[in-house]
Amino acid sequence: MKRLTLQIAWMAGLLLLAGCGGSGGEDQNKAPDAVPALASPLDAGPRAGEAPVTEALVERGQGLFKTKGCSACHAFGQKLACPDLKGVTMRRTAEWMENQILHPEVMTKDDPISHQLLGVYMKQMPNQGLTQDEARAVIEFFKHKDHELGVIP
Ligand code: HEC
Repeated sequence: MKRLTLQIAWMAGLLLLAGCGGSGGEDQNKAPDAVPALASPLDAGPRAGEAPVTEALVERGQGLFKTKGCSACHAFGQKLACPDLKGVTMRRTAEWMENQILHPEVMTKDDPISHQLLGVYMKQMPNQGLTQDEARAVIEFFKHKDHELGVIP
């Protein structure tokens, strides 16, 4: 089991590397369907970006993304030392992202997708102490951003 997890993390690493410097084609924004062992109970159902954006929360979310330190590690359309958040709302459900933001230290242990990301980036996302409302505002900002970037049609 452990070996399988490692193998999957390794394959995902290759996929990420392959995507690096690409033209931002569509497949980069989707979870690699070819990797089967990643079913996460939190990631079942429609992608976050399929729901309409609650525009009233976008500005607050954008502000929090800076003031809560997220922008030190994450960018959109650019991979710093952490996952590129361009397309994240079409990769994940809102529930999965909310949990990742509120309990990253639990997610990397218990959630298969988050655990895989930890294996790829070799870095633990810190808990930035957001409230649930704040996390939800940030997610609305992500959805807004994916519309702006053309990831969500
Ligand atoms: C110190 C760097 C760091 C900071 C600060 C940080 N993150 Fe992360 N984030 C990561 C890493 C690394 C991962 C991959 C999971 C892991 O290894 O912990 C991640 C994963 C994620 C993911 C999932 C990405 C995907 O492709 O599925 C989201 C969403 C996210 N972070 C949002 C945030 C938000 C919102 C904040 C601010 C409240 C934040 N992060 C702050 C490093 C960081």
